[in-house]
Amino acid sequence: MRIRMVAGNWKMHGSLAENKRLLDAIAAGLTGAHEEHFVVCVPYPYLFSVQDALKSGNVAWGAQNLSQYEKGAYTGEVSASMLNDFACRYVIVGHSERRTLFNENNAVVAEKYVAAQRAGITPILCIGETLQQREDGITEKVITEQIAAVMQLAGIESFKNAIIAYEPVWAIGTGKTATPQQAQDIQAFIRAGIAQQNSSIADDLTILYGGSVKANNAVELFAMQDIDGGLIGGASLVAEEFIAICRALRH
Ligand code: 13P
Repeated sequence: MRIRMVAGNWKMHGSLAENKRLLDAIAAGLTGAHEEHFVVCVPYPYLFSVQDALKSGNVAWGAQNLSQYEKGAYTGEVSASMLNDFACRYVIVGHSERRTLFNENNAVVAEKYVAAQRAGITPILCIGETLQQREDGITEKVITEQIAAVMQLAGIESFKNAIIAYEPVWAIGTGKTATPQQAQDIQAFIRAGIAQQNSSIADDLTILYGGSVKANNAVELFAMQDIDGGLIGGASLVAEEFIAICRALRH
């Protein structure tokens, strides 16, 4: 079954005090049983306190990155098994900020995806084109290559336990959202590509949209057939916005 999901990507924001206020408000706003998955992906140092705050509620937590290596002399890195120590259910891999600012290429992203799954953590695989690539008309080629790298290393079956987030780089943090139809077109393309290998895996695959999702545009985005929820940056730091976006999944 395809899960509908809203995941917050806090990026490098927060403090113990701010997180507590935010999580208390989110927990209060999202009470009750629900089929949708709500997630916050937080900076590593806060995993312990976020786990403690959320462990008895219905919001899951995860990290924003992980090492492709299991352990060893990799100063500053964090392994999948360390994330397991804090019961992370999800981890973002291949976010465009990691790809562009920290030189993560498709091969490294694929290794991280495998490292997460090996530890039983569901990777949220981010893919998407830059403005230049869209203007050059190579969006589908870029997306295809990003998925192919993962497919080659991990295989089609791995998509049973993965989430894809389509995040056009030009829409991230810019206030410039893809139109629902622009996002739908690419997300349908992504699903069709997976379906070529296995249609039931494609049907069940959760594909999120990310890039300037706000409370005021979430309903129309989430109404599209191949948009199963969102990966939310800025708006995930504002409790009322995040709660409203989570609720938009139910429309
Ligand atoms: P914004 O919602 O701030 O555009 O960020 C999107 C994003 O990068 C989520 O991973």
